[in-house]
Amino acid sequence: MCGIVGYIGNKQAYPILINGLKRLEYRGYDSAGIAIFNGDLNVYKKQGKVQELVNFTKSKNTQGTIGIGHTRWATHGEPNDTNAHPHVSGNGRLTLIHNGIIENYALLKEALKKEGHTFQSETDTEVLVHLIEELQTRENLKIEEAVRVALSKVIGAYAIVVIDREDPDKLVAARKASPLVVGIGEDEFFVASDPTPIAEFTQKVVFLNDEEIAVVTRDGDLQIKSIENEIQNPFIQELDIKIEEMEKGDFEHYMLKEIYEQPKTVADCMRGRVNAAEGWIKVGGVDTCKDRIFNANRFIIAACGTSWHAGLIGEYLFEELARIPVEVEYASELRYRNPIINEKDVVIALSQSGETADTLAALEMAKSKGALCYGIVNNVGSSIARLTHAGSYIHAGPEIGVASTKAFTGQVTLLSMMAIHLGYERGTIPRSYYLQLLEELENIPNKIDRLLKNAQKQIEFIAGEIKDAPNALYLGRGYNFPIALEGALKLKEISYIHAEGYPAAEMKHGPIALIDENMPVIVIATNKSAYEKIVSNIQEVKARKGKVIAIVKEGDSIIREIADYTIEIPDTDEPLTPLLSVIPLQLLSYHIALMRGCNVDQPRNLAKSVTVE
Ligand code: M6R
Repeated sequence: MCGIVGYIGNKQAYPILINGLKRLEYRGYDSAGIAIFNGDLNVYKKQGKVQELVNFTKSKNTQGTIGIGHTRWATHGEPNDTNAHPHVSGNGRLTLIHNGIIENYALLKEALKKEGHTFQSETDTEVLVHLIEELQTRENLKIEEAVRVALSKVIGAYAIVVIDREDPDKLVAARKASPLVVGIGEDEFFVASDPTPIAEFTQKVVFLNDEEIAVVTRDGDLQIKSIENEIQNPFIQELDIKIEEMEKGDFEHYMLKEIYEQPKTVADCMRGRVNAAEGWIKVGGVDTCKDRIFNANRFIIAACGTSWHAGLIGEYLFEELARIPVEVEYASELRYRNPIINEKDVVIALSQSGETADTLAALEMAKSKGALCYGIVNNVGSSIARLTHAGSYIHAGPEIGVASTKAFTGQVTLLSMMAIHLGYERGTIPRSYYLQLLEELENIPNKIDRLLKNAQKQIEFIAGEIKDAPNALYLGRGYNFPIALEGALKLKEISYIHAEGYPAAEMKHGPIALIDENMPVIVIATNKSAYEKIVSNIQEVKARKGKVIAIVKEGDSIIREIADYTIEIPDTDEPLTPLLSVIPLQLLSYHIALMRGCNVDQPRNLAKSVTVE
C-alpha cells in the first residue's frame, strides 16, 4: 500500500525524499506529496506518479533538512491533489503522512467537527492529524505525547510520520499493523515503509513493532516508547541490501529483470542448504523446531495471491513426498472463519513482502490457538518474519515489479527443499529418489537459464498472436494446475485481459462452453503422469477451434502436432516442474502487456504490498 519516507539530518531532504518515493512507488502510485520544513513548512502534493510531483516542485522552494514524503494507494477518497498526503492540521502546525486505515475515522470526524474542525479532504488521515492537533492544543502536549494519546483513541492500522513546526527538530513516527523502519545514519535518521529508500545511506535499522512510537531528533537521539508510554529498547539490525538489487540495470522493466534474475535467485535460495554430492539438505528454520514439524498432524498453508499459488504447490509437494496432510487457505478467509486449529498443527505463512495484512492476521489467530507458526518470507525483518516461531527466508532480493515472479520461484524452491527434507527424514521417500531430487534441484538454475535463452523469441511471437484476445484460459493438471492459476493471474494483473486458470479435466464441467476460435487456451502439458489425459484435453479444445498454446517438455513431438504453438521447457522430475513451467507464462504475460501498452511494473489499481485488508 502507500509508501512513507522521512528524513532528518544535515543533508537536503528533498532529493532523499524524492528518490525514496521513487523507490517506494511500487507500493502505491496514484498521487504523491512531500512536506519540508525550513523555517516555514512547505507542502507539495500532486495526483499521479512521483514524476508529476517532481515536475510540479521544479519551481518551488524545496530547501530544508527535515521532511516527509508519501506515495499513495487510495483507500478513503479518490486519487487527487487534495486527498494526497501529507495532510496538515487545521492550525497549520502539524503535517502527517499515513499508511493504513483509521477505521473509526467517521466517529472521530463528527466529534472533531463539533469542536470546530473543518476538513479539506475525504481521507481518514486528515482526521488523524486533526485529532492530534486537538489533543495537543487542548492539553498543551508535546508532539510525541499528543501522537501517543491520539493513537490510543484510534481503531485500525497505521504507519505515520509527523512534523510539528513548533518543535521542528524531530520526527515522530508510529506503527500498528503497517510496516515502518527507522534507519540510523551518521548524524541523520530515516523513516520509511521498507528499507529500500534507506539502504543506500545506511544498513543500520530498527523495525518498529506494533503500537510503538519512535522519536528521532536532529541531535542524534532515537527514543522508542510503547503506546502505553513505556520506554522500549531499540533492536538495531544490519541489513544486507545491495543498491544494484534495487535498480533496473539494463532492463526496461523491473518485472523483466526479476524474471531474468531467477537462475540466480533460485540458486541463492538453495545456497548453503542443498548439497547433492554430499547428499544433504538443511533448512535451518525446520531444524529449530524439528519435533513439532516432523510430528505435526497437518500443515495449514496461509497466503494471498501468487503466494497462495505457491502454497498450493506446497500441498502437492508435502503430501506426495512427506505424506503430511496439507490444507491451503486464503489468509483472508482463514482469519474470519472459526477454524479448528491446535498445537499439533503447523501453520506456514507464505509472503513475499512479509507484510500482507490478511496473512499476518491469520497467523496471529493461528498462534493464539497454539499452532506452530512458520514463515516463508522474502523481506528480511518484515512483520511475518518477526511474528512466526521459525521460518526461512527465500533470499530473492528486493522484488519491485508489482507482479510477483522471482519471489514465487523462491517460495516454490523453499517448499520443495522442505518437502524433500521432510520426506527423507520421515522415511517417505527412498534415499535413491532423495538423491535424485537433490541433484535435480541443483540443476534447476541452469535449466531456467537455458529456458530463458531458448524460449524468448517464440514467446514474443506467440504474445503478438494472442495479445488482442479479450479472454484466455489456462489449463494444467497436478503440479501444473497451480501454474495455470498463476499464469492466469500474471496475465490479468498486468495486461488486463480476463483470464482463468482451471484444472485441465474441469474444463469439461463448464469452461468448455467458452471455447471458440477467439479463445487462446494455454495448456501446461509437461506432465509425466496423466500425459495422455492432457493430450486428450488439448484435442477437446482443438475440436472446438480453440487456439492452443502448449508448454511442453523438450522434444515433445506428439503435442507439437496438435497444438497451434508450443513452448519447450527442459525436462525435470515432476515435483520440480513448476519451477520451470511458470517461467514461459511470466514472460508471455510480460510481452502481451508490453504490446498492449500497459504499465508492466505498476499495473492499475494494484500495489505491491497489501497492508490493508
Ligand atoms: O507479499 P505477499 O506475497 O504476501 O503478497 C501476496 C499478494 O498480494 C501478491 O502475491 C499479489 O497477488 C501479486 N501482485 C501477484 O503478482
